[in-house]
Amino acid sequence: MSQRTLLIPLSSFFIAHLLISGVVSTTFTLTNKCGYTVWPGILSNADAPALSTTGFSLQKGESKTITAPASWGGRLWGRTYCSQDSTGKFSCLTGDCGSGKLECSGTGAAPPATLAEFKIDGYGGMDYFDVSLVDGYNLPLLVVPQGGSGQNCTSTGCVVDLNGACPSELKVTSTGGESVACKSACEAFRSPQYCCSGAYGTPDTCKPSSYSEIFKNACPRAYSYAYDDKTSTFTCASADYQITFCPAPNTSQKASQEQNSENTNTNTNTPLINSTMVYEGALSQNGASPSMYGNVLGSHVTAGIVSFTVAIWQWRQLF
Ligand SMILES: *[C@@H]1O[C@H](CO)[C@@H](O)[C@H](O)[C@H]1NC(C)=O
Ligand SMILES: *[C@@H]1O[C@H](CO)[C@@H](O)[C@H](O)[C@H]1NC(C)=O
Ligand SMILES: *[C@@H]1O[C@H](CO)[C@@H](O)[C@H](O)[C@H]1NC(C)=O
Repeated sequence: MSQRTLLIPLSSFFIAHLLISGVVSTTFTLTNKCGYTVWPGILSNADAPALSTTGFSLQKGESKTITAPASWGGRLWGRTYCSQDSTGKFSCLTGDCGSGKLECSGTGAAPPATLAEFKIDGYGGMDYFDVSLVDGYNLPLLVVPQGGSGQNCTSTGCVVDLNGACPSELKVTSTGGESVACKSACEAFRSPQYCCSGAYGTPDTCKPSSYSEIFKNACPRAYSYAYDDKTSTFTCASADYQITFCPAPNTSQKASQEQNSENTNTNTNTPLINSTMVYEGALSQNGASPSMYGNVLGSHVTAGIVSFTVAIWQWRQLF
């Protein structure tokens, strides 16, 4: 008797929880609008299970939907200029995960790479997500939440081509001389000031640099350095996510988002696209062809930005 009276409220609580949270899984739909093949890579956080795939190819125009379990956390990115050598070893000029295979199988992207980071149901029923250029940039990427709710449940990303506009000291070029990626100042100069490490390891001591500002001006909603949280972390309840590589730079996207009456948070007025720069025409889409590429040393600076932000958020709630 006493057991039954306990079980009934427990099971109805569980059902109510399912109804309120609405979903027990989240889908990511990846679409390649680039004029070339992109090989997405997926890395789950240490505490999250691997998804059904950790790397695959996406022809131009192609889409693929992947389901992530409840509370999944991890990152997705696009690898470019990938090929297989005569020994069967698979590698990519940008975003390579070093696995030697199509699947990344638990390894992350070598910088520079544009990253989409997620923590599903990170805190208070909200998914936390961002697009990060902290590890540099390799291709335009847009995240659009579908069907979610919340005050700052909105699109984020870096929709311009920063490869052409990249300062020469940060530029990564193919042997053919083509700009294929743009390093972060941290990766290029390895100084604590740019990497927000050592004496610069706090939000108070690590400030934007002239380099991070180049990224921020071009892509105002993306993370441009480690402590760029306020304008770069977005939250949605019960959303699915569209991730598009090379979305057409589209200035009316901004206008259509501002019509969304749910977005009352002033921070989300940060434009997705810096129309000043788009109209200047400084940033042009460039297609490209595979070629050789120098050594990309990996410092996974952004590793865990989302979980860090969530941790800080949870910590703040204690006080
Ligand atoms: C857009 O870019 C210009 C030029 O770099 C910069 O002065 C301005 O602050 C940027 N706007 C936003 C919203 O980031
Ligand atoms: C979105 O909401 C989170 C949590 O409330 C906050 O930390 C973040 O700064 C917000 N982001 C924007 C861009 O408003
Ligand atoms: C630009 O965005 C608007 C709103 O999202 C959409 O209706 C329009 O078709 C887009 N235009 C292009 C060229 O992609």
